[in-house]
Amino acid sequence: MLVTNLSDSDRTWVRERTELLFGGDLVVSRDVVHMPAELPGFICVEGSERVGLATFMIEGDSCELVTLDALCQWCGVGSALLDAVEKAAAAAGCSRVWMITTNDNIDALRFFQRRDFRISVVRPNGMEAIRKLKPGVPSNGHYGIPIRDEIELEKSLAGVGEGWRVV
Ligand SMILES: CC(C)(COP(=O)(O)OP(=O)(O)OC[C@H]1O[C@@H](n2cnc3c(N)ncnc32)[C@H](O)[C@@H]1OP(=O)(O)O)[C@@H](O)C(=O)NCCC(=O)NCCS
Repeated sequence: MLVTNLSDSDRTWVRERTELLFGGDLVVSRDVVHMPAELPGFICVEGSERVGLATFMIEGDSCELVTLDALCQWCGVGSALLDAVEKAAAAAGCSRVWMITTNDNIDALRFFQRRDFRISVVRPNGMEAIRKLKPGVPSNGHYGIPIRDEIELEKSLAGVGEGWRVV
């Protein structure tokens, strides 16, 4: 498995994956509209197959992980991509990485908390506002759980990427 920088030749595929995962080519977080296909990121490849992608946005000393998408679950793809984003953020001088998920996404809540992320903000019924921008967001999500609340998680990057540099 190899993690590489997302290149322009990957962007159509990123758009397709975003549509599949988020029901459109945009992602809304904290009222900000992101187009993942236009963001920096990483892809994970196995042989000639793309098996995952991560996109992020750096603002000040914070890095938002906008999307993390593992096509093969429980194979190490998400971990490899998250590691690459954290190291890129640390190299860019960020002190924290944060992301938003929804109350139904139990696998993501587990995955991120196992990797030192902590819940920092909960917006009960936050998805009502998101649905005004993205009416296609389904009522039910993972495990048939109603998608209602936004949950932000964050991780301090202290110590991440020490001895690592971008070449
Ligand atoms: C959340 C998500 C990114 C996790 O990615 P993933 O690739 O399944 O994660 P990993 O495989 O790296 O790690 C998951 C577990 O599998 C284990 N694992 C990794 N490789 C393994 C292998 N070869 N065999 C068995 N287990 C393995 C890891 O140890 C890890 O367990 P742990 O958390 O107890 O340490 C993925 O489920 C996903 O894409 N979900 C849909 C999109 C999403 O919700 N994104 C997040 C919000 S934007």
